[in-house]
Amino acid sequence: MGNNLLKGKRGIIFGALNDMSIAWKVAERAVEEGAIITLSNTPLAVRMGTTNELAEKLNAKLIPADATSVTDLEQVFEQSMEVLGGKIDFVLHSIGMSPNVRKKRPYDDLDYDMLLTTLDISAISFHKMMQVAKKMDAINDYGSVVALSYMAAQRTVFGYNDMADAKSMLESIARSFGYIYGRERNVRVNTISQSPTVTTAGSGVKGMDGLLDFSERMSPLGNATAADCADYCVVMFSDLTRKVTMQNLLHDGGFSSMAMSYRAMEQYNKSFEEFKDENGKIIYG
Ligand SMILES: NC(=O)c1ccc[n+]([C@@H]2O[C@H](COP(=O)([O-])OP(=O)(O)OC[C@H]3O[C@@H](n4cnc5c(N)ncnc54)[C@H](O)[C@@H]3O)[C@@H](O)[C@H]2O)c1
Repeated sequence: MGNNLLKGKRGIIFGALNDMSIAWKVAERAVEEGAIITLSNTPLAVRMGTTNELAEKLNAKLIPADATSVTDLEQVFEQSMEVLGGKIDFVLHSIGMSPNVRKKRPYDDLDYDMLLTTLDISAISFHKMMQVAKKMDAINDYGSVVALSYMAAQRTVFGYNDMADAKSMLESIARSFGYIYGRERNVRVNTISQSPTVTTAGSGVKGMDGLLDFSERMSPLGNATAADCADYCVVMFSDLTRKVTMQNLLHDGGFSSMAMSYRAMEQYNKSFEEFKDENGKIIYG
């Protein structure tokens, strides 16, 4: 049940691939809150995924676009304003992909052409999106632009590979563009740093099961789900957060403020069972 938090607002949601996608949940929640939206994803994703079903269900136009192409992005904003009947109030960038991760290239043996692709798809596309929107004057006063990030932007996470560099850049773009967009057009720009979440992109991360379990045990509130993330995005799109901009907002059940929790310590200690002496003291190798 919605509360009409986004009544009368027009939005564009990039990156809903299937019903596990965070963007999928955000699109559903935004419409539930009274928004009208368009959806966008790559032509390949539109063919391979189930975004069409979501478009049908939400009565939203689906505009195929590669977010690394400025021309495609211009089309998305132009068509969105046309079908939604005016300027845009919110945009979600929920896009990430690393060919190095896909091809299992470790961080100390990266393919540099692939690294450029990672950065272009996962970070620079966010800049392109905003540059296009600003030049077209496509976003309303106090409009809200949100991109999804991950804590590996600040702290090293085993297996996250060159996506960590992309997320650092993404968060930096939010600050740099957020300053200009805020100053000149009153548009706010933020990133939401989300807990590990089971999705198609998420399952590409090395050791995802262990990571999910570890962060669940470490977080006093447990991992934030895709549905929780959708709720947070709705608040960020709403008029209730008009003065929040240039922030990286941690949405992780408290994980980022923890160093060790009782539940994680308990599990960690279990791994030492076979290395304990008769008094229960750990014998370090
Ligand atoms: N799943 C997690 O654990 C997690 C945690 C924190 C942040 N995130 C971030 O959330 C966002 C959404 O990912 P998700 O987990 O919902 O997975 P997902 O696989 O459902 O979404 C990723 C989307 O990116 C799209 N995409 C890839 N290349 C593109 C391009 N060139 N142009 C346009 N779209 C393109 C894909 O088609 C897909 O829809 C990503 O930025 C991801 O890094 C995910």
